[in-house]
Amino acid sequence: MLGLLNVGSVAFSTYLPLILCGNAAEEAPASTTEEAEAPAEEAPAEEEAPAEEAEAPAEEAPAADGELVSVGFAQVGHESDWRAANTKNYQDTFSAENGYELSFVDCDNDHAVQIETVRGFIEQELDYICIAPIQSAGWDTVLQEAQDAGIPVLIVDRAVDAADTLYTTALGCDMVAEGEAAGNWLAEYLDGKDANILVIEGSVGASATLGRTEGFNNIVAQNSNWKVLDSQSGDFTQAGGQEVMESFIKSYSDFNVVVCQNDNEAYGAMDAMDAAGITYGVDGDVTIISFDATHDGLQYTLDGKITCNVECNPLQAGFAEEVIKKLEAGETVDKWTLVKDEAFVAPGIESQYAVTMSQEVLDGRAY
Ligand code: AHR
Repeated sequence: MLGLLNVGSVAFSTYLPLILCGNAAEEAPASTTEEAEAPAEEAPAEEEAPAEEAEAPAEEAPAADGELVSVGFAQVGHESDWRAANTKNYQDTFSAENGYELSFVDCDNDHAVQIETVRGFIEQELDYICIAPIQSAGWDTVLQEAQDAGIPVLIVDRAVDAADTLYTTALGCDMVAEGEAAGNWLAEYLDGKDANILVIEGSVGASATLGRTEGFNNIVAQNSNWKVLDSQSGDFTQAGGQEVMESFIKSYSDFNVVVCQNDNEAYGAMDAMDAAGITYGVDGDVTIISFDATHDGLQYTLDGKITCNVECNPLQAGFAEEVIKKLEAGETVDKWTLVKDEAFVAPGIESQYAVTMSQEVLDGRAY
């Protein structure tokens, strides 16, 4: 735990990300910065452990002696509604009221900025570092630096391509399983009919993109009458989804399935199809599959526009806090914690893989 000297934004001035303006998904949250006075504690010895399912976070604040626990969070950016919900969840959970001093940095989807942000956290000797990796590659060096400094690292939301001995724990949703859920639902829904599929992928190199693509392709391989016509990155943004869909519409005239790897891309794809006079949804020519199941995404699912929406639960901070409380108490932690999610389908569709949407289901959602 640290006593903190607040030095404003100066400490991060060399690696602060751009602050953008725009819709809710594009507004960058304010970055907060602090400088540490005391060295960080060593992480307790780690053990390989099987995947642990999500549990309710512990109730007691960790800083029983009144000092705040300093936590750095190198967030991906502000590209989507999902990301906004995830950021809010971390800021609410790691509040001063709860015993934390959170240094939050929006890395604006820039890998180099994210690496330097983590280096800044190490220089400040923060107690814990949370990283939501923009891309999965390129982490070995800075993770080694954090380990050498004795600072526990939590890999959150997305995964890294690095030996798991280089970080303390990882937590998040299973992106491959999400892709497979989408594919399994489509097979059930099409019931043997042909599929000409266009895929709008997420950000290049992100484990969310790689996993969903791999999982969906696993099911494509089981269906010889499915054809993926094209697969392009829409960067997990509405503008990206619209741009890719406009380009697809110019190149392909015969498609009946569009897979968008997040809700914001689906909004953009729907705008592009509206402009081109292409109908979609349960009563249209094109079936849209989306990921995230944010509130607006599920409203479109309830309205029958997005036919299947596979959740990726952004409310993950409680699991990170649970890990930190255990480490503060000198306990060992699991190497991996799975945050569970589920899929939703439009009204009138029954599925063994998904919950059928209703107003009641939407009203009961926490984000
Ligand atoms: O890593 C989670 C993904 O990142 C979400 O699906 C997407 O909306 C976000 O940008």
